[in-house]
This record gives sequence, structure tokens and C-alpha cells, in this order.
Amino acid sequence: MESTLLRFTAIGSVDDGKSTLIGRLLHDQSAVYDDQLDSIRRVSREGLDLSLITDGLRAEREQGITIDVAYRYFSTPRRRFIIADTPGHEQYTRNMVTGSSTADVAVVLIDARLGVLPQTLRHTYLSWLLGIRRICVAVNKMDAVDFQQEVFEAIRAALLEKAAELPLVELVFLPVSALQGDNVVRRGASMPWFEGPTLLEYLETVQPAPAILSGLRLPLQTVLRGADSDRFYAGQLSGGAVQPGDQVLLLPSGKSGRIAAVRLRDEALSTAATPMSISVSLDGHVDLARGDMIVDPLHPPTSTRHLKAILFWMSSDPLDTGKAYLLKHTTQTVCAEIAAVEASLDVATLRFEPSSVLGLNDIARVKIETQRPLFCDPYAANRATGSFILVDPVSNGTIAAGIIEAAEQPAGPSSLSRPGDHEGGVLWLTGLSSSGKSTLAVVIHQRLKDLGYRVEMLDGDIVRKHLSKGLGFSKEDRDENIRRIGFVAELLARNGIVAIVSAISPYRAIRNEVRARISNFVEIYVNAPLDVCEQRDVKGLYRRARTGELKGMTGIDDPYEPPADPEVECRTDLNSVESCVSQVFRYAVNRLGGHYA
Ligand code: ADX
Repeated sequence: MESTLLRFTAIGSVDDGKSTLIGRLLHDQSAVYDDQLDSIRRVSREGLDLSLITDGLRAEREQGITIDVAYRYFSTPRRRFIIADTPGHEQYTRNMVTGSSTADVAVVLIDARLGVLPQTLRHTYLSWLLGIRRICVAVNKMDAVDFQQEVFEAIRAALLEKAAELPLVELVFLPVSALQGDNVVRRGASMPWFEGPTLLEYLETVQPAPAILSGLRLPLQTVLRGADSDRFYAGQLSGGAVQPGDQVLLLPSGKSGRIAAVRLRDEALSTAATPMSISVSLDGHVDLARGDMIVDPLHPPTSTRHLKAILFWMSSDPLDTGKAYLLKHTTQTVCAEIAAVEASLDVATLRFEPSSVLGLNDIARVKIETQRPLFCDPYAANRATGSFILVDPVSNGTIAAGIIEAAEQPAGPSSLSRPGDHEGGVLWLTGLSSSGKSTLAVVIHQRLKDLGYRVEMLDGDIVRKHLSKGLGFSKEDRDENIRRIGFVAELLARNGIVAIVSAISPYRAIRNEVRARISNFVEIYVNAPLDVCEQRDVKGLYRRARTGELKGMTGIDDPYEPPADPEVECRTDLNSVESCVSQVFRYAVNRLGGHYA
């Protein structure tokens, strides 16, 4: 018999004994390698501290920073398992919600001494809301309550009463002691009154969740150009399957197309299915970009700017209606506003009650309006196209995760105040070659654009290929170059556009000349010491200047005059790209206005 796969996740805090429980499970069915055990035995203060098995994982993860779910694989003769271990319920929620991990079963931990806490109810509810219909409640630390049946039964009764609010949920209660091992893998002798399975027996026999079937959804991540100048559209399949010859619908254009080829890296495939990352080419001439979606023409997603959604608020800053957030949905990032909070979950009763505020850990039913349409499905129909996250544009932190209940057709004209009321201006990034001007400019440009600002970029290297073609690097030529860039930037700014300039612009006088002509001139000094820039040497120019091959290199044998009083100074050698971007962003939106400010 082929062994089936079960994905499960354990939810609870370290205090509930989550790490120890997973460690126990792995240890007692001997998935833990001997050398790892030896090293744990060496650092355990007394006996064998099983939480170190998973805490070791956590340490790796903290160093890795970007990975916030660790997967553990193990198998028994009956089944293969994947455990998604997440450091806290925020990450759990975010990962579950964005469809990056799905679980057949959630194991919710309860500390037998503490009973059913609000967080237990929240975890149970979240699991249910995320579509997990099989929830195993592990009442842990039974050793600390003398393995009393009454304690276990009281907890079971308390939770069952609340769970009446959760249709279709299948709750199983298991008394365990992760510390001593009772009823995890081995039954033990301390709870003869319990007749149910051990945790492992339960996991080995529970039915995996049925797969959700959905039509084709291929959100585009990037466009690749093949050797024969064919375009290949790459992304992760987020629903359905695709094969050459399939008729498809292209969004947002609404045009139809036909799949010419499907590739997995360089290999041609006859078919590909969710969740593979693939690329496809199409017959004829089509022009698609990141954020577009290739979908099933018979069962397309809804294209809408109006969502009814459930939000999990993960930020300590409460919701600010009227503020613009960035909403990330599949491969799109759009500007969004929470138009209304309708109700929030009362954790004590697991019912929604009318409410208009949203704070840390709240779960609420909201209406959201986005600036551009999303191609979405209800979460129940597709977890990937039915979920999203909200990001704070200044800090870039995730502040909420959401699942879509319904895509609504707009009732009237848009009420989303576009930042059309922002002023034009110039964000002028000056600094040495390799100081980071272009890097910052690109990110600032994208972020303002996502928020609906009218923006344009003027990059030194590009301008020199067109507008300033033929100019060299003498003082006169550089001044002329800057004068031209300044002229175009002024035209743009006067017409309400935010022009983002990135040019070395080494001479102070000409920068000030440009400044004098433009009402919102924001000088951003992108500062990194010469030796740092020289080390980065993105284009190899410093090396060529040092060998004498390149003459008049700024910073080497041509001067750079730093701004005397810049509006913003970014030390790119000391701060991350993200924090420099935030610095500029904050200043810019304050100065230029727009509904984000
Ligand atoms: S500026 O001095 O006139 O403001 P700008 O930013 O437009 O310069 O162009 C600088 C770019 O030109 C550099 O990024 C580099 O690719 C190229 N370049 C070629 N020669 C030089 C040089 N001698 N000094 C600085 N940049 C140079």
C-alpha cells in the first residue's frame, strides 16, 4: 500500500509545550538522528530536553531571518508527515493565509493547568477559518495535574461548547504529557481511563483534507525572454493545471489566448499542475506583465476593486481608516483602503459582534477597496487567489492577513480617495557612483507608484543615452547634463508628477540652480564613504580609474561636493535599503501630500 502524506501544524506557544511535543513525537518514533540526540544530551541541563530538537530549528530560522516556517519531515510505516512549525500564531496566520502552507490537520495545544484560554479559542477559530476542518486538541502537561480525568473532561466540555459555532469542524481531544511521553507515541500507564488513540495513532489514521479543485490560475511573476526572442511568462500555478493547446483568458485585458508551450526551467512539459512553478508561452503576439493572470476562460476569477474579507490584525498599531495600505495579492501589489469595519470576533463566544475598531490580534469582517482590480476568488474556492496581506508602506511590515469572503461588484463610483491631490515635485538623489542612488530610486519609485502617485524616473545612465547623448564628464558637460535633467524634472513637477532623479550631480552650484526653479525640490544625499563605494564598484569604474584607464572619475580625480543642507541624508553604508527608503518616503509624502500623508 502506498503511504499517504499528511500535513499538519502545531499551534500554541512555547509555554504550552509545543516544542517539547513535536520533539517527543519525533524522538519516540525515532526520527531524530543519533548525532543530533547526542548534542542535545550534552546541552540539556538534566535528562534529555526534547524541546531543543525543535528549538534548534528555531535558532537556525532566526539566523536565516527570511524563513518563518520550518518544515519537519518524518515517516512511519503507515504514513509520511510534514509538520509546519511556526514560531507564533502571527506567522502561522500569515503563512496559512497566503496559501504558502496548507495543513490537513491542526494540533492545538492547551496547558492542562490553565485550561481553555482566549488564545486557544483564537487558534481554534483561525484554523477553522483557514479551512482546516480537522482539529486535534492536545491537552498537554497532564503530568502536572496528576493525570486526572476530570481536568481533561472539563477542558473538553468547555471547548466543545464554544465549538458549536464552527460548522463542519471535527474536533478530537487527546490528553498527553509531552514531557513524559504519555499518549504521544506510546500509551504509557498513567491514563488508563483514556480509551482514545495516541497522538501518533490519530495522525496516522486521520483522513487528509480533500483537495480543493479550482480552474487555472497562473499569476505572472516575471517575463523571460527565450533565445529565439519568444516570451515566456513565469509564475507559480495557484489553481488548476495547464497544457499546450489550452484556451486561456488573459487578465486584465480580457483577451483570449492559447498556450503554445509549458516549461519547467528549460524542460518542455506536456502538462503542469498546481503548485508547480513554471513558465508558459502563448501563440501570437501578446504582451503580459508581472501582476497579470492567465486563467481558465470558463471559470475565471472575479476582477474587482471591492472585497468583503476577514482580516487578522497583527500590528500593535490599530487600524487607521482613511490611511492607505499596500495590499499584496498573488503577484500584485496595490494600494488599498479599509472602507469599513463591520464586525469583529468576540473570542469568548466565537461570534461576530458589530464593531468599528481593529487592534492587535483582532479578527474582523471588513470591506476593502483597492485602487486597481484584483483577480480573486473566495478563499473557500482557492486559497492562493482568495488571500492577501496588508503591508505598511513606511515600515514595510505585514500588518494584517486577510481572506476573501466575497468579491463584490461596486455599487457606485469609487470612494477611494486617490492621491490625485498630491503635489508635483522632484526627489533628487545625489551621491558618488555606487553609493546606492539607483537602488533607492527604483524602490521609492515602485512604492509611490503602488500607492497611486504619479511618478517618473530620470536616471543619469539612461538620460545620458538619450537626452544627454554626446555629453562627456568635463565640468561643463556635467553641468549641462544636470541642467537638462533639471529642465525635464521641472516640467514634470509643474504638471503634478513626482520626478525621481538619480544622478551623481557632483557640483553644488548647479544643483542649487535647479533647486531654485522648482517649488518642491527634495535633495537626498545618498552618502556612503568613498572606500565603501569603491569596494562595491558596481560598474567596475573605480578599478578602471585607479589603473588610469578612466579619467575624471568622480571621487578619484574629479571632485564631489556634498550637499550643504540636504532635506534627507541616507547613509547607505550604515542603514539597510529598507530603512533608507522609509526615510525618503516619509519625508516625500509629508512634503508632497496625497492621501497617504
Ligand atoms: S553626472 O556627473 O553628470 O551627474 P551621471 O549621474 O549623469 O553623472 O552619470 C554618471 C554615470 O556615467 C556613472 O554611473 C557611470 O556609469 C558613467 N561614467 C562614465 N565616466 C564617468 C566618470 N568619469 N565619472 C563618473 N561617472 C562616469
